[in-house]
Amino acid sequence: MRETSELTRFSCRNLHPAIGAEVLGLDLSVPLAPEVVADLIALWEDRSVLVFRDQKLSPQDQLRVTDYFGPPSQNEHKKDIGVDLPEQETPGIVLISNVQVDGKPIGSIGDGELWFHSDNCYLPKSAKASLLYAVEIPRAGGETRYASGYAAYQALSPETKAKLNGVMADYVFDYKINTQTRRFKPGPDAFHAVHPAVVLHPGTGRPALFVNRQTTERLIGMDPEESEALLQELFDFQERPEFVYDHQWRPGDLAIWDNRSCLHARKDFDPGERRTMRRTTAGEQKLEPALA
Ligand SMILES: [Fe+2]
Repeated sequence: MRETSELTRFSCRNLHPAIGAEVLGLDLSVPLAPEVVADLIALWEDRSVLVFRDQKLSPQDQLRVTDYFGPPSQNEHKKDIGVDLPEQETPGIVLISNVQVDGKPIGSIGDGELWFHSDNCYLPKSAKASLLYAVEIPRAGGETRYASGYAAYQALSPETKAKLNGVMADYVFDYKINTQTRRFKPGPDAFHAVHPAVVLHPGTGRPALFVNRQTTERLIGMDPEESEALLQELFDFQERPEFVYDHQWRPGDLAIWDNRSCLHARKDFDPGERRTMRRTTAGEQKLEPALA
């Protein structure tokens, strides 16, 4: 067995003009050489989303790949559900699944549409990278949507950019309420953090629009009506097709996205179909505003 990948080069193709690259020629079940990892990170920071097809990854393989992008988070919302699955025994791995065994869900946030958001943006330190590995996929629906924060910010009018300059925002999330609503009356289990409306990406130095429909409650320093009107305008703008790539999953796909420069959402699917994904996150980070 090879100790590291013999491939020092890979090829790639853009998945959408604004966002995403498919990486070709790498087997991620084999450790990658440091120079390959460096090239992948550079591509990832530029394109925000990398997709690898036809991978066969154990939970440990996924954690190793996660570690290329930052220390794997151990604070996933792991559920003690009494089901004997390797993923549930591996710290840092969380199952996203609608499957039930003996009437108990084997994973979290299994069904339904999820609005655009950035992972962990409701915590003081947001997640840098998220990795999703497809185990079981429904015959239709359940796509993950990726929206480029770089492209959306770049396309804003000079007037809107000026309004957002240096503005901070409240990001709120309650798992019981906010998957697809802006009814912000969070309960005692809600999370809350303040982050910039426009983030300066520390790797590329480029600004990215960070507000999102699922968690951004208000723009700090504006009156409530002005804040809500501007947010609604931004949500509609950033979700336009010219900024969004819809990924149609196949079993064995791994997607790695940069939560600092893109948002993601999930399309609905038939709850009678099975959908199981393995998720990891990496690299907690305090976000800095991009100042014009
Ligand atoms: Fe997410």
